[in-house]
Amino acid sequence: MKITVIGAGNVGATTAQRLVDKQLANEVVLVDIVEGVPQGKGLDILEAAPVEKTDTRIIGTNGYDETADSDLVIITAGIARKPGMSRDDLMNTNSKIVRGCTEAAIAKSPNATLIIVSNPLDVMTYVAWKSSGLKKQRVVGMAGVLDAARFRSFIAAELNVSVEDVHAFVLGGHGDSMVPLPRYSTVAGIPIPELMDKATVDRLVQRTRDGGIEIVNHLKTGSAYYAPSASAVLMAEAIIRDKKRILPCAAYLEGEYGISGTYVGVPVKLGRNGIEEIVEIKLSSEEAAALKKSADEVKGAIAKLSV
Ligand code: APR
Repeated sequence: MKITVIGAGNVGATTAQRLVDKQLANEVVLVDIVEGVPQGKGLDILEAAPVEKTDTRIIGTNGYDETADSDLVIITAGIARKPGMSRDDLMNTNSKIVRGCTEAAIAKSPNATLIIVSNPLDVMTYVAWKSSGLKKQRVVGMAGVLDAARFRSFIAAELNVSVEDVHAFVLGGHGDSMVPLPRYSTVAGIPIPELMDKATVDRLVQRTRDGGIEIVNHLKTGSAYYAPSASAVLMAEAIIRDKKRILPCAAYLEGEYGISGTYVGVPVKLGRNGIEEIVEIKLSSEEAAALKKSADEVKGAIAKLSV
């Protein structure tokens, strides 16, 4: 197994480190446009391998020759959000970057599956899919796993229970219009509306929606990367190990949930073949309307693109 991570910034380098530490591949290739950065970070991670007891090899490079025949390509390249900047502000710059990285990577690894992490997530996943020429099942966006992880950590802290017993579902676009579903968010199988009052549920839902910006406001010079990289690696593991996990991911919809022609976050079965199934759960009319609104926002942004 060979995994390429494009972008050796905070998210990309942390993703590469987690892949190596978990031995999810024989080889990890870290690519960045800045000379020296992927080489230096790659070597640093390699030198940690004896301590971490991992035999996964890692190299850093500015080119794509070394990425040839990757099974999985994770795209984190782009510029990160700064305070006061919405994910949509990033759209035009990052779409050019994501298009270029996708084309270069797929030219060397035509059979790869792509996980997209660059923001604005749903639009960048669409850009990568369009520029890759791959089947829609092979291009998947990382957002819902991160949003659900944030929701889970807030629920666990609020109820003082283990994060392991908390499950959460978040649908929709990765942004202000995301749709956390408290009814399907549980502690050991018990829906959270039975464990906390509505005001508390609403507060945690809002904190989940604002999860990205809360970190940006703290960091001031960059955006989150520990939870995003952990979430991308969870998806990589589901694909590499063919785990058939049911995870909220950005998938291209053609009629599912009454939505067509866009990527948006829905529950999918993730395995060796990428998105092996889109799981259609029953939504209330309010939830369905919120998902549709979120999808329409992504579609509106896609319509402004020139890819
Ligand atoms: N090819 C390869 N790498 C590139 C390219 C390119 N064309 N353009 C930019 N990069 C690299 C930058 O050199 C930088 O090292 O992408 C990296 C981005 O790293 P950071 O600025 O640290 O940003 P990071 O926090 O990692 O976020 C990356 O993930 O979560 C999203 O919103 C976030 O879109 C952003 C992306």
